[in-house]
Amino acid sequence: MMDRSEAARRVLRDNDRGGYTVPTDRLYPFQWNWDSAFVAMGFATFDTGRAWSEIAWLLRGQWEDGLVPQIVFHAPSDDYFPGPEVWGIRRDPPTSGITQPPVLATAAHRVLAADATEAGEARMAAIYPRLRDSHRWWAAARDPAGTGLVATLHPWETGMDNSPAWDRALDRVPVTTRTEIRRRDTSHVDPAFRPRAIDYQRFIHLVEVFRDAGWEPGRMLAASPFRVADVGTNAILLRAEQDLLELAARFGTPAEAAEIAARIARMEAALESLWDEGRGCYLPRDLISGESIPFRGSAGFLPLFAGQARHAAALAGTLEGWGKSVRALVPSTDPGDALFEPLRYWRGPIWAVVNWMVAEGFRRCGQEAMAGRVAGDTRGLIAAEGFSEYFDPLTGQGIGGGTFSWTAAIWLLLGGGEA
Ligand code: GLC
Repeated sequence: MMDRSEAARRVLRDNDRGGYTVPTDRLYPFQWNWDSAFVAMGFATFDTGRAWSEIAWLLRGQWEDGLVPQIVFHAPSDDYFPGPEVWGIRRDPPTSGITQPPVLATAAHRVLAADATEAGEARMAAIYPRLRDSHRWWAAARDPAGTGLVATLHPWETGMDNSPAWDRALDRVPVTTRTEIRRRDTSHVDPAFRPRAIDYQRFIHLVEVFRDAGWEPGRMLAASPFRVADVGTNAILLRAEQDLLELAARFGTPAEAAEIAARIARMEAALESLWDEGRGCYLPRDLISGESIPFRGSAGFLPLFAGQARHAAALAGTLEGWGKSVRALVPSTDPGDALFEPLRYWRGPIWAVVNWMVAEGFRRCGQEAMAGRVAGDTRGLIAAEGFSEYFDPLTGQGIGGGTFSWTAAIWLLLGGGEA
């Protein structure tokens, strides 16, 4: 029998479409932004050339203003909705017009660590200016006032599409009356495990608002009826800025390093404002109403991934508490929340990529026991069920197909069963 790590490498190879990787065959036939960042780190454990190529292909979709899109449509496919015609963005290659959590600079930093050669340095030198531009885009497009928190304008941008965190903010978004929704996901996977129809009608309405705004960042920010400060995105960006700062020292200028350091200082202070002492967790904020969103989810632990250690013990305590009602950590929604649904996508299930960041975060912040537990649970789930898209926290069952690139990448990053 093929061992699990060999199988993980095989999944990445099988999902390779000639230099970039699809998240899985059929359900997601294009290149996704944060999936590819994790995939690049996974490839870096056995094929650094292929890891660099993953990043380079994603950056083929980067816009002139620095935006790294959520999806790059390298080759046509009928298996996914909404395709390039719904976005209506004429670029080569076509892309969507929103983004996803910016794991990319962290991935590039890690690939370089695995490939500390002259060739690796040359690859990095070519990529560094693109990463710098993408972080400048985040600041200019999503935090023009310099608050230290970037805004997310679409639930898809959080990567946690239908999280209960966005329910209230999404209520404000009208359903589309202009675009015919032709979902493909529900013919590949059980609809009970996917976002609901009404979610999709709102998701597409937001796309129409942005299209009407000409994809111009200032107009999108002003026009969007959905505008939140997501803990996950902000924490991941802060971590990416820290990694970019190290890269700037070697590949950039002192002025660029100072610019990044200034953003880091602002972001650290702002992230702290999302801490909720009573709930023992970081909470997202609705930037339209200005109110904190009283929702505890897996993203609430991610400031640890950015080294924000002040509340590490409290966060370990919170997660410890959740652990009493689930079989494995980390459920995407607090299992004590009435909105917890163990099988429905981001409303309860465990996602390996989030677990990896949470485990890294606890380790970085001195909570070794919890780091080990989260990493161990993740390995156990994958060892038992394979490279599923996500897992039921109550039973451990893998859901949504067994050949997901990012789950395979996380297995390799966790050192597989060998560690
Ligand atoms: C779904 C997930 C998102 C992921 C994409 C591709 O939309 O919610 O986080 O990037 O699938 O796997």
